Amino acid sequence: MSSSTATARSHPNIALIKYWGKRDTKLNLPAVPSLSLTLSQFHTTTSVTWGSNKDLFCLNNIEQSNTQSAKVFQFLDLLTPNRPPCTVVSENNFPTAAGLASSASAFSALAMAASVAADLQLSTTALSVLARQGSGSASRSLWEGWVEWKMGKKLDGTDSHGIPIAPRDHWDVRMVMAVISSQQKPISSRAAMLQTQSTSPMYDAWCNTAQTDVDIAKKAIMEKNLERLGRQMEHSTLKMFSTMFTTQPSVRYWKPQTLAVVEAVEQLRNAGIPCWYTMDAGPNVKILCHAKDAKQIASAIRPIVENHYILEPGHGTHLL
Ligand code: DP6
Repeated sequence: MSSSTATARSHPNIALIKYWGKRDTKLNLPAVPSLSLTLSQFHTTTSVTWGSNKDLFCLNNIEQSNTQSAKVFQFLDLLTPNRPPCTVVSENNFPTAAGLASSASAFSALAMAASVAADLQLSTTALSVLARQGSGSASRSLWEGWVEWKMGKKLDGTDSHGIPIAPRDHWDVRMVMAVISSQQKPISSRAAMLQTQSTSPMYDAWCNTAQTDVDIAKKAIMEKNLERLGRQMEHSTLKMFSTMFTTQPSVRYWKPQTLAVVEAVEQLRNAGIPCWYTMDAGPNVKILCHAKDAKQIASAIRPIVENHYILEPGHGTHLL
C-alpha cells in the first residue's frame, strides 16, 4: 500500500469575542460570530500518515483508546470517501483539555497535515471550513494574529470560516495566561454549550448582541485602542458565563482563584496598568495587556496561580 506523511504545527487562539452556541450541531456551525488572537509558544504538532496498517492515534506518546480516537478518525472520514487506515501522531507542548484551547490547535494542525498527506490541495479558507467541523475554535487558528470567524448564512457551512483581520505584528500586545488548574475540565465545552442553548433564559440575548461585540472589537483592533477592546472582551466573556451560570444544571468552571485573578486585574487597572481578563471553558484566566506591562502583571498574579505564561501574537497553522 502506498502511503504519504505530512506534519503540521498549529497554535491555540484565545477568543476576545466568544463563540458559544451552535446553529447546526452536525456541521458545527456557530450561533454567533467571534474574534480571536492566535498565540505563540504553545503548539500542537501533528503528523498524519495516509495509508497505514490500521487507524492509530498517539497523543503525547500514548496510544489512545478507540473511544478517545473516534473524534480524530471521524474527522479524517470528512476528507475523502473510503479513506485508507491512517496513523496520527500528535504532541501538545501544553496541558490538554484544560481551557487552554487545545482543541483549536489540535484540529487546525490535523486538518492541514491530513489534507496534505491525502494530496488534497485545499486553500486556507477550505482548511478553516474543515477544521471547524472538528472544533469550532479551530477554524480561527489557521491564520496568524487577529482573526474573525464569520457565522455564515449557507446551510452547507461553506461560508462559515475564519477571516484574517490583522497580522501578528500589527500590535504589540501580550496574553498573560494564569493557570489555576491544568486538570481536565468537569464538562466539555461542547456538552456545556448544548446544555446552555437548550436551557438558559439568557441565551437569546447572548446571540442577539454578539455581532455588535465583534464590530466594536474589530474597530478597536484596527485603531489599537486597548481599553475599548479590553472592555468589550470582558463584556463578551461575562455574557457568555451568564448563559452558563443560568443553565440547568448550572455550569460553573470558575474556582475561587479565578475570581482572585479577576480582582487582581481590576486592582492593576485601578493602579493605572491597562489590562483586561477573559476566561474560556475552564478556571484559567487570560489577561490582555500591552507588551511592556506583561511582566509586572505576571508578578502580581504569581502568588495566586499554579503557573503562568506570557504569550505574544503567533503564527497561523503551517507545515513542518
Ligand atoms: C469558550 O471550539 O472547543 O473557548 O466547536 O464544540 O469543539 P466545539 O467547541 P470549542 O469551544 C470554544 C468555546 C470557548 C470560546 C471560544 O473559543 O470562542
